[in-house]
Formats: sequence, C-alpha cells, structure tokens
Amino acid sequence: MRAILSELEARRDEARAGGGAARVAAQHAKGKLTARERIEVLLDPGSFEEFDMYVTHRAVDFGMAGQKVAGDGVVTGWGTINGRQTYVFSQDFTVLGGSLSETHAEKICKIMDMAMRNGAPVIGLNDSGGARIQEGVASLAGYAEVFRRNAEASGVIPQISVIMGPCAGGAVYSPAMTDFIFMVRDTSYMFVTGPDVVRTVTNESVTAEELGGAGTHTKKSSVADAAFENDVETLEQVRTFFDFLPLNNRAELPLRPVYDDPERIDLRLDTLVPELSTKPYDMKELILALADEGDFFELQAEFARNIIIGFLRLDGHTVGVVANQPMVLAGCLDIDSSRKAARFVRFCDAFSIPILTLVDVPGFLPGVTQETGGVIKHGAKLLFAYSQATVPMVTLITRKAYGGAYDVMASKHIGADINYAWPSAEVAVMGAKGAAEILYRSELGDAEKIAARTRDYEARFANPFVAAERGFIDEVIMPHSSRRRILRAFAALRGKRKEQVWRKHDNIPL
Ligand code: HXC
Repeated sequence: MRAILSELEARRDEARAGGGAARVAAQHAKGKLTARERIEVLLDPGSFEEFDMYVTHRAVDFGMAGQKVAGDGVVTGWGTINGRQTYVFSQDFTVLGGSLSETHAEKICKIMDMAMRNGAPVIGLNDSGGARIQEGVASLAGYAEVFRRNAEASGVIPQISVIMGPCAGGAVYSPAMTDFIFMVRDTSYMFVTGPDVVRTVTNESVTAEELGGAGTHTKKSSVADAAFENDVETLEQVRTFFDFLPLNNRAELPLRPVYDDPERIDLRLDTLVPELSTKPYDMKELILALADEGDFFELQAEFARNIIIGFLRLDGHTVGVVANQPMVLAGCLDIDSSRKAARFVRFCDAFSIPILTLVDVPGFLPGVTQETGGVIKHGAKLLFAYSQATVPMVTLITRKAYGGAYDVMASKHIGADINYAWPSAEVAVMGAKGAAEILYRSELGDAEKIAARTRDYEARFANPFVAAERGFIDEVIMPHSSRRRILRAFAALRGKRKEQVWRKHDNIPL
C-alpha cells in the first residue's frame, strides 16, 4: 500500500510541476503567478477540489506524442469564496502556452456542465495562446464546445472571466460570451489576431498593449469591465465582486450582515444639486451616501463615463445601480452609455438583482456621429432592457429627466415599481429655454420676451410636481432621507413576482 500511495504522490507532484521549473521561473519573472498559485489566492484556503489532474492530450502529430504533461495545461475543479461554491478553471501558460487542446477543452466543459447542474458560478482564469496549433480542427472543435456551453450557461449561472496573460484567438471568444471580464494591467492582452498578423494583413504597426491591453479594453473597446495592478490584486477583487452575486438564477441573493444604520440620514445630500441647473455635480457622491458602508463596486468606470453602473448593498441586500453622471457630457445618454447600461440591466434582471436608477439626464446626445452611429438602435437597447426587466426597480430623479431619456431611465411607464424625485427634479420634454425658443419662434428676436417665456415654462415644468400630480412620481422626498426611503422601497418589493407570456426569446435590438 505504501508503494501505491507514494506513486500517487509522485503522479500528483508531476502534475503540479506543470511545464517545469524553468517555465515557472519565466512566468514569475513576468510578474505572473502560476495557474495553481492563482487558484490559491482566489479560493478559500484548503477549499479547492481538483479534477482531471492526470488527463493528457491525445495528439501525435508534430512530435506531440513526446510532449505530454499531466493536466494538459489547465487546472480545473471547484472550491469556495467566503464559503460559497464556485467552479474554476485556470490555464497553465507553462504548458504549451496554456493552449487549448481537445482534452484541455473537455476538462473545461466538464466543470461547466457540473456548474450548470449544481447551480454554481464558473470563474475562468485565462492565460492562453488560443487553439493548440498542433491539433488543428480538434482544438477548434474543443473551443466550439466551450462556446456553446457559455451560451447555455448565460443567464443560468454567473460566468466570470479573468484575463491573466496574452489571450489570442479562441481564448478571447469564450470570455466575450461570459458576464464579466477582468484584466491585469501590463501583463494581460486580448486580441482576435495579434500585432504580427495585423501588420501583415493591414500594414498597421501597433503594440500588443495598444491593440489589446487593459487600457484599450477598459477605456475604448469596453470589452473588459475593470483592470487591476497585478495578479494578486485582481484575484482579491474578484473575491470581493463574487460576494455580490447569487450562485445561480434561482438562488437567493447573498445577504451580508449590516453595520450601517438603515435609518441613516445624510444632510449633505440636501445641497448636492447646485442651484444653477447647468452646473455639474458628482453623482458618485450620492451613490456612496446611499450604499451600506459607502461600499460600491463600479464596473466599466473608464468607459462611457456619462453613465455609472455597479453593485452596492442596501441593508445587506445586493442592488445594481444605474446612474447618469452630470460630470461627463452633462449625463446625456449616447451610444456607448446606452449599451453599457443595457447589458448591466439585463444581467441584473437575469439573476434577480434589484435595480436602483438615479436620474439626471438632459436627453440623448445630439450629433451626426451619434445618428450615423446608430444611436436609435443602441438607445433602444436600454429602453428594451428596462422595459423587459421584472426585478424590483426603484428610481430616483435628482434633477433633470428630459424627453425620451425620461422614459428610458426606468420611468414608471416602462416598468419601474417606485419612482421618487427630489424637490430639485425637473421632468419635462426639454430644457425651458429650448422649449420657449421652439414654442415662440416668432418672438426669437426679442430676448426679453423669450426670457419671460422661459421663466413661464420653468415655473410650469421645472419641478417634480406636474409628474407627481399624475402619479408618475410616487413621492417627492427629502434628499437627506433618500437612503431610508430607498431601503424601505426595496424592502416593500421583495415579494414582487411578474408573470411573463410564453415566447422562445425576445428580439432585443442588438
Ligand atoms: C501551441 C503554443 C501556442 C498555441 C503558444 N504556444 N501558443 N503552442 N499552440 N496556440 C507555446 C509556444 O510554442 C511556446 O512553447 C510557449 O507556448 C510559450 O509561447 P511564447 O511564444 O514563447 O510566449 P510569448 O512570447 O509570451 O507569446 C505568447 C503568445 C504567442 C502571444 C500567446 O505564443 C502567440 O502568438 N501564440 C500563437 C497565438 C495564436 O495565433 N493562436 C491561435 C489562434 S487561432 P515553448 O515550448 O517554446 O515554451 C484560434 C482559433 C479559435 O484560437 C477561433 C475560435 C473563434
């Protein structure tokens, strides 16, 4: 028996060694952890249960018969994060560049199937050169099996991708089909084709960082949701993020012990909105003032900054926040902000996470670029996402809610449950001056008359009461009591159930 046990130990050691000491040293020299070290940081100590440690590939071409490494370049299994279960795969760049073979794909598919059956999220730690070139179509088939499962699991279990090395080809498409992508600054890249191929095909000279670094994907392409300094910080942040999410689409939301007073009032909010309605203020101050312990996990913070999205907790319960940011483009809706918020609303709805919408929006951004870029279709995404959402929705209008954007930003008409406004709210078709200039075009030459007409329009519409008189606003609330009122609103909505008519699926304008 002793010999058998020591053989097991020897085989485990061999698998744990991955691509060997030299390649592990090269990985460390780049400031990267190994696949197994990453799992240790991500999961609770001692919680990892590994599967398929001894699996090797079946390829024989290109001298592959002599290049078998136990585990085949990916470590898979499950463990816990703060006691809650998650499945995980971690690609091992020291084994053939973490490239995906047929068997590597089978290992990933196995844990994805288990995750779907058992109702727990999948976290993928990606560090891969893409399809294993020596295996040809067998590795492409493997990728397609993973992609199909990504689609099947979408809306059933949360899927999180962490990009921790150079990810090319198929290695970016699986993450792209998951719910959230986090990157590591300076050591992770995502591209369909790398800089060399780009140079050959289009003659463009570009660095890997410019083409697919964390800066590009968090600021320009919006492929990634956030980026962090190094492997350890990224994995720690994923742990924090994981705590906001339910384990699956039928599971209860996690409830955290609360150390923040649900009745807490905040007098600073009474003066948050400046007297001059064109003057910006920072909507994040309101978000932080509302959140339990001022704790807010923002997503896509550097992309489409005119809208803010992320998670906070109210009285221990996870809530998704969508908020216009008056500091950027006056908080207008445009193509990018509509896309950003729409996808977030759909994630929240799929996983029964209530949505808080904070509104200060002067309308859709006018312009040729917006119109020719399809703002109609992209804006419709957000309108569609909100209209379709069945989760509890609470809306607070702090200042402007103009035009179509009033409708879009979780108005009562498209399905929000409780709509509050501050006394500073202005609910109107457009700003008073613009309205006066259109209604009284013949008086345009007379500045005094137009000013008087503007004041008239302001007096009539630049307040929340016209909407409140119609019941479109449920209550005009004191800014300082917003946390208490919003907490109570969500508490009242916990039993919300909304039946839906049968359909195969909707047809959101993509
Ligand atoms: C087999 C691979 C590999 C791959 C890397 N390696 N990628 N082996 N298949 N796809 C191996 C290398 O041969 C090397 O082996 C080791 O991994 C480390 O790679 P290096 O090139 O030395 O590392 P680095 O300089 O850091 O560059 C990393 C890289 C580069 C940027 C990922 O390796 C690269 O460009 N690889 C090819 C990327 C690619 O074109 N993949 C196919 C995409 S097509 P040794 O033995 O020397 O350590 C695809 C199709 C799916 O994925 C599409 C579905 C939609």
